[in-house]
Amino acid sequence: MKTVFALAAIAALASKVSAASCWANRLGYQCCKGNTVVYTDSDGKWGVENGNWCGIVDGTQQNATCWSQPLGYPCCQSTSDVIYTDSDGDWGVENGNWCGIIKGGSTGGGTGGGSTTPGEQYTISGNPFSGVEFYINPYYVEEVDNAIAQMTDSSLKAKAEKMKTYPNAIWLDNIKNMQSWLQPNLEKALAQQSGSKKVLTVFVVYDLPGRDCHAMASNGELLANDSDAQRYKTEYIDVIEEQLKKYKSQPIVLIIEPDSLANMVTNIETTPACAESQDYYFDGHAYLLKKFGVLQHVAMYLDIGHAFWLGWDDNREKAAKVYKKVIDSGSPGKVRGFVDNVANYTPWEDPTLSRGPDTEWNPCPDEKRYLEAMYKDFTSAGIKSVYFVSDSSRNGHKTDRKHPGEWCNQTGVGIGARPQANPISGMDYLDAFYWIKPLGESDGTSDESAERYDGYCGHDTAMKPAPEAGQWFQAHFEQGLENANPPL
Ligand code: BGC
Repeated sequence: MKTVFALAAIAALASKVSAASCWANRLGYQCCKGNTVVYTDSDGKWGVENGNWCGIVDGTQQNATCWSQPLGYPCCQSTSDVIYTDSDGDWGVENGNWCGIIKGGSTGGGTGGGSTTPGEQYTISGNPFSGVEFYINPYYVEEVDNAIAQMTDSSLKAKAEKMKTYPNAIWLDNIKNMQSWLQPNLEKALAQQSGSKKVLTVFVVYDLPGRDCHAMASNGELLANDSDAQRYKTEYIDVIEEQLKKYKSQPIVLIIEPDSLANMVTNIETTPACAESQDYYFDGHAYLLKKFGVLQHVAMYLDIGHAFWLGWDDNREKAAKVYKKVIDSGSPGKVRGFVDNVANYTPWEDPTLSRGPDTEWNPCPDEKRYLEAMYKDFTSAGIKSVYFVSDSSRNGHKTDRKHPGEWCNQTGVGIGARPQANPISGMDYLDAFYWIKPLGESDGTSDESAERYDGYCGHDTAMKPAPEAGQWFQAHFEQGLENANPPL
């Protein structure tokens, strides 16, 4: 369905300002202080103040949220006549535009679900993982339930059951999944909040044009060209922003575009696809940082690869410059810090390794030493907020890999430290261990004839046969449970 917002063209000239909250905020406009109506459309009544359009607050109905907003359509304000019904919900028409009918005056129906109304603005101060409850991803619980149904061993089943009690990140890995998972999970997390107890949801923003430029397995839906870059902004980032602005009473962490900036540090010269993507990666970051970085209830962490990617002295030096530049480009948006080891297997501590021929002279042969070094380098480069989240979903057991560059479905996998805030005393800049890559979801297919087949997924220590990236990989999951460290 397509709709035309008559105001859009004129309103695009207006600047965006954040002020008291109302229905107009989700469209990027502030709320009016007065109530002189200049124009009315299906979104509501508009006024003009200080030369800018603003939304007139004249009742609770217009503040309502509903299932159709993530799909790009407003909620019906006054009609409940159903013109059309599809799997999303009941559609009405107001002022010539499609709108989502709010069942029984609640926000229920279609993908929206729930009946809660977002409350007062929440402001993250300090570590966003601290003092909150972690939201459990229902999609992962479902995956684990299906996995348990395939198991016969009762002790393995018991371990798998425990996995349902731990949180992990929700990957918004294409536009459709973002539409299905962002708003409904925010809504559920909000419904779990009671009083001052906040529920933290962690999402992975992962859809840059030309994604996974140095490998094949996770190539995305958007290509490195101008029109897809535009889609990234309008159909992906803008829609996320709209939802984040709406769910303002809860803490939200965003893990930003795994692998992308690390590829910008090491692979522009050697990999043509990374050279072709660079403008889109940098521009995409600047765009999203400006938007998400001004939201007080949202904290962002930029991906920094892992110890055996950027750990070498020259790479760290280059990295500090690249990350500083990217953060500056997103001003006034702010970044809380950085995330390491996403979807990798590098142990947190490995006392058997030190700088030498075995590590190819890498002075940071485990994640702990990597973060210690990055902390120093990033702060001396002038980056103001340097905190880390470390992905510990699959680094509890040293895998069978003979070279630390192996990244695909490694055998010998074991889950690592459980998600927790401030896990290491004396390392105040480590905000949390968290599970970013869900154990059991594949890194890439081992089917050589597949379009996204990457040779790494055919190597000796890559478990086979493996499904496409993100799909359930039962054998890998079971091994990860068996080798859990600490044990489950
Ligand atoms: C895949 C994504 C998936 C994510 C989490 C990535 O490797 O490319 O599609 O959502 O892993 O499993």
